[in-house]
Amino acid sequence: MSPPNHILGIDTSCDDTACGLVTTEGVILSNIVASQVEEHAPFGGVVPEIAARSHLEALPWVVERALSPLGGEWDEVDAVAVTYGPGLVGSLLAGISYAKGLSLASGKPLIGINHLEAHVSSALISEECPPQPLVALVVSGGHTILALVEDDGGFELLGGTRDDACGEAFDKVAKLLGLGYPGGPAIEKIADQTGEPAKKGEWVEFPRPMKDRGELDFSFSGLKTAVANYVRGLSPPERERELAAIVRGFQEAAVDVLMIKLRQALLRTKTPGFIVVGGVAANRRLRELAGALAEEMEISHYIPPPELCTDNGAMVAAAAREKLRKGEYASLDLAAYPNLELGQKPSPALFSR
Ligand code: KG4
Ligand code: ZN
Repeated sequence: MSPPNHILGIDTSCDDTACGLVTTEGVILSNIVASQVEEHAPFGGVVPEIAARSHLEALPWVVERALSPLGGEWDEVDAVAVTYGPGLVGSLLAGISYAKGLSLASGKPLIGINHLEAHVSSALISEECPPQPLVALVVSGGHTILALVEDDGGFELLGGTRDDACGEAFDKVAKLLGLGYPGGPAIEKIADQTGEPAKKGEWVEFPRPMKDRGELDFSFSGLKTAVANYVRGLSPPERERELAAIVRGFQEAAVDVLMIKLRQALLRTKTPGFIVVGGVAANRRLRELAGALAEEMEISHYIPPPELCTDNGAMVAAAAREKLRKGEYASLDLAAYPNLELGQKPSPALFSR
């Protein structure tokens, strides 16, 4: 048997410097993430200039560690894959430039990857993932998308957010409650404080925006405002006493709305399986309710382990497998596309076959 071949995947779309090594058969050999949380936390959110600079500092050692299963040898590497959008332009450019340098120095082809498609690939790479076509719910800090992933890997957009992304709502609510950054894990920690699943009556009821509308779009800014208005009406001691109930109520409303729209998408497309991917998919309550939805609808579903839900390099390498097979390489003119959409290819000239 010939030795397995490998793809190195780099993601620097936001504030994580990430690099992973995946075999062409889909086995993840390494997945190194350097978090910048401590650098951004004092500012209550990501500072783009700090993020870009930190990526430049972290990339050399993150890539070196990701390559360590091969003893740092490039012989068995087939390609260098890198996220070219969407994301923060300075952060994207840091990763793209570094990947171009690696590609030039090693003589291995460069593969450009759409970050949203990489999130979808974090599920597709698993043997437990239901067969295509399937419905993908992509929930991250910048996106909330429902899409049909077709047999051939193409995407049909079914719905998206009209304002804030779901993860953004977690981050903003955490900020207004003084829970720090990043908000998602902070909210989950407080919501799950008792270790018991929360019961109705143990949380504040917040609205489920756009719940009863037929379309598959979301709106999270109204939910965030509802939490802000509720909190404004409380005295500091009341606020402290009610914190867990408020946080649970927000999490419950946010996750419930995701499940309502996911169910509608599944009924409309009559698709027998779904995946949930992106940072918010790490949320325990979401995973629990998605499991219950699949059981109730008697369909299959898959949610990657939490470390593959949040930004990482292995998902970029996973998304590059098909492109490597087809010889779809990026030219060294590959640029950053901060507003790239799911399924969008900005300029065919940048990708040869
Ligand atoms: O996919 P991701 O790592 O980066 C983007 O592509 O945006 O997602 C980050 C988002 C943040 O908004 C973060 O608060 C949220 O995912 N997140 C969570 C959890 N872990 C991360 N939201 C809810 N519960 C979590 N456990
Ligand atoms: Zn992401």
